[in-house]
Amino acid sequence: METYEGKMDLTRREVMALAGGLVGAQVMPGPAWAGDSRHLLTAAPAEVQLAPGEFPKTRVWSYGGQVPGPVLRHKQGEMFEARLVNGLEQETTVHWHGLRLPNAMDGVPGMTQAAVHPGESFDYRFALRDAGTFWYHPHANSLEQISRGLSGVLVVDEAEPPEVDAEEIAVLDDWRLTEDAQLHTEFGNRHDMSHAGRLGNYITVNGAGELRRSYARGTRLRLRLVNAATARVFRLVFKGMNAWVVALDAMSVERPERVEQLELGPAQRADLIVDITAETGEEAIIGSVERDGTYATVSVSVDGVEQAVRDAPQALPPNDLPELALKDARQVPLVMEGGAMRGLPERVMWQGSKMEARALYEAGQFWAFNGQAGMDDKPLVEASLGETVRVPMENRTAFSHSMHLHGQHFREVLPDGRLGPWRDTLVIHPDETREIAFVAENPGDWMFHCHMAAHQMSGMMNWIRIT
Ligand code: C2O
Ligand code: CU
Repeated sequence: METYEGKMDLTRREVMALAGGLVGAQVMPGPAWAGDSRHLLTAAPAEVQLAPGEFPKTRVWSYGGQVPGPVLRHKQGEMFEARLVNGLEQETTVHWHGLRLPNAMDGVPGMTQAAVHPGESFDYRFALRDAGTFWYHPHANSLEQISRGLSGVLVVDEAEPPEVDAEEIAVLDDWRLTEDAQLHTEFGNRHDMSHAGRLGNYITVNGAGELRRSYARGTRLRLRLVNAATARVFRLVFKGMNAWVVALDAMSVERPERVEQLELGPAQRADLIVDITAETGEEAIIGSVERDGTYATVSVSVDGVEQAVRDAPQALPPNDLPELALKDARQVPLVMEGGAMRGLPERVMWQGSKMEARALYEAGQFWAFNGQAGMDDKPLVEASLGETVRVPMENRTAFSHSMHLHGQHFREVLPDGRLGPWRDTLVIHPDETREIAFVAENPGDWMFHCHMAAHQMSGMMNWIRIT
């Protein structure tokens, strides 16, 4: 690994010297079936040039032969239709992350649909209720399938999008590659599961080591950031630009917030309005420099006819979100335990019986929610339609977790009682307690889990029922 990173560094410097030679965002509609607006998404093995050119292509699994998969794009209110064709040698599904859609379209095998077997297909069809930046990925054998490259972006445009000069989609991903740029095929070893998940050694933006662009000073960009990694929490810094967060996890924020840095956990998205302020001839950069030396960059060489730098942007039009009735809301506390350093409590429920922690580790289960590892017949929360539910989540583990609720968005109840932005995924760091509140507005059985896929498969996966 060490050698590989060393090599990669050198090569990337050379590549960067070539300036602008890298392929950027592949924004294209998914191939349609027979000339209509339905998308055909084939999940199948493919080979892509992830690492710089002198490395061999990487064998991945992808949608439509590209990594990330095709950008699927529609207007708010349109009907979305996609056929998943399973060209893999194992079962799969597609989960449309962050969409408030009918339960049967949520893509959770064994819960909302039957798994799609190799060679078979499944048709997804639902109305696009919300505008925003969403993404799609399998919900079967998630750690392996997402880590191998199965994910893509779904953009739903507002009826009246904000005025910008250009848009960029930047999908951040994290790969664990061997020296010949192939994926390490050990998915879910005990160390990954019980620590911070499957962290990689090579970070990509839109499937390449770097995303390079050229814009004039004063250019206003809309930037859609997506974290498609299964474990890495990106900490991004913005240089040579004024950056405002205008939406998080697809939902607009009330007041655009000027940021100099931004934390983006697995599965989270952020929409920003970015004005290039660096001088002509300089570079504007969005970078993520990680403790382990890996890094991601979007770099903009500033060139062309300057415009005046603008004032703060306006808020995006909001989606139709429910009113939280916090006062009489039921509280359902969630205690997160387990993992290296702290461990599980003495006895934990797993598959219907109480087990000793040691036996659970043997079985590859390292985490528990409320003393329960993984799923049980009984949901974590049973809510009636329209009810507001408050879930204070206490992270007693030594690791960060990216908690995701399907089917509805939630808001954080801040310590002073104010409400945070609407989100579908929240990063909770060690020893934090963070309370979320949501209106149970969408009937069905919905997953509630850590999006660090190695944690998800080793205990941090549960569900709620709304009737
Ligand atoms: Cu992004 Cu349960 O998923
Ligand atoms: Cu986790």
